[in-house]
Amino acid sequence: MIVHNDFPEDLESLPEYLSTWITPNDAFFVRQHLPRPRTSAETHKVEVGGLAANKLSLSIADLRKLPQVSVPAVLECAGNGRSYFRPKMPGLQWTKGAIGNAEWRGPRLADILAKARASTKAQFADFDGLDVGVGKTPDFIRSIPMRKLQHPSTILALDMNGVPLPDLHGGPVRLVVPGWDGASWVKWVSRIELADKMHTGFYMNPAYRYPKNPVAPGSAAKPEDLDVLEGMAVKSFFARPADQTKVQLGTPVTLTGPAWAGEHNVARVDVSTDGGATWKTASLSAQGREFSWRIWKSEWRPAKPGYYTLCCRATDTAGRTQPIEPAWNPSGYLWNAVDRVGVLVEG
Ligand code: MTE
Repeated sequence: MIVHNDFPEDLESLPEYLSTWITPNDAFFVRQHLPRPRTSAETHKVEVGGLAANKLSLSIADLRKLPQVSVPAVLECAGNGRSYFRPKMPGLQWTKGAIGNAEWRGPRLADILAKARASTKAQFADFDGLDVGVGKTPDFIRSIPMRKLQHPSTILALDMNGVPLPDLHGGPVRLVVPGWDGASWVKWVSRIELADKMHTGFYMNPAYRYPKNPVAPGSAAKPEDLDVLEGMAVKSFFARPADQTKVQLGTPVTLTGPAWAGEHNVARVDVSTDGGATWKTASLSAQGREFSWRIWKSEWRPAKPGYYTLCCRATDTAGRTQPIEPAWNPSGYLWNAVDRVGVLVEG
């Protein structure tokens, strides 16, 4: 992993671990704003309150008794790729690897909200984890609209890739909001508060907001011109070959990596071995349903020695395509430029 911070842990996956459909738990990126809380599956409780007729206090055993669903889904930090924006902005300087695809398993939020007899006045649920504010860093609380919470794939995950959710990833219980950026996926969930309005805390405003209209690079955006981030961009990158790889002429080279598109599906990935002058469509793995990524692949036999710029570009079912230059924004969210790697073919 690339260690951006060791306390609290901010760890980035290396691209070569992102070439498989499932990202192993011990290679999965980690992002926390605050020190990791101490809790256990035996003692942990999730309280459900606010605009609900039936307040709940659920243990992990209670959550495991509800119907369990498996949801393969991509988790990506909104700031993944921030280091590539120019001019640069403050924040974690992620490169490609603040992302992974895992199989999450647990009860549906819709079932928990029904058990709590959520009021029809409830428009949002505020999710708070056990981590607490420290110094100038406030408590991490996120509001999710009811329409997304009622989606059958929105769950409280108790398992990640077939094992109990590791505490680095929010164990024993975290929110999984498929198709939305990682900030919504609250870890160590301890309180769900139903409300008629969106929470006004720092992590809903001004953090995790994106300009409604593109702003000039380096400029500020007025608060009223920012919207809460929902969904994710269409994106793909090279897991292999690594940038600046050397290969021998005559050796076939496998170009591969993941492609995903938030709440949409990936329609196509195109690759170029001549810096984007010509493109060829890559194959896509059969695995990869709604919300999870697909692995794209293309075999390349370089015809002559020299230095090559390889590019990959995904297009989704909503017609979105990776741009050459993503819109600059003050917090450096949603970087999704056409990915490039350089390869030297030696004769
Ligand atoms: N939940 C809590 N309680 N505290 C946090 O700091 N970070 C969020 C989200 N959930 C965070 C949290 C952010 S910004 C991201 S990108 C994801 O968790 C990262 O999840 P991971 O560490 O399992 O990869």
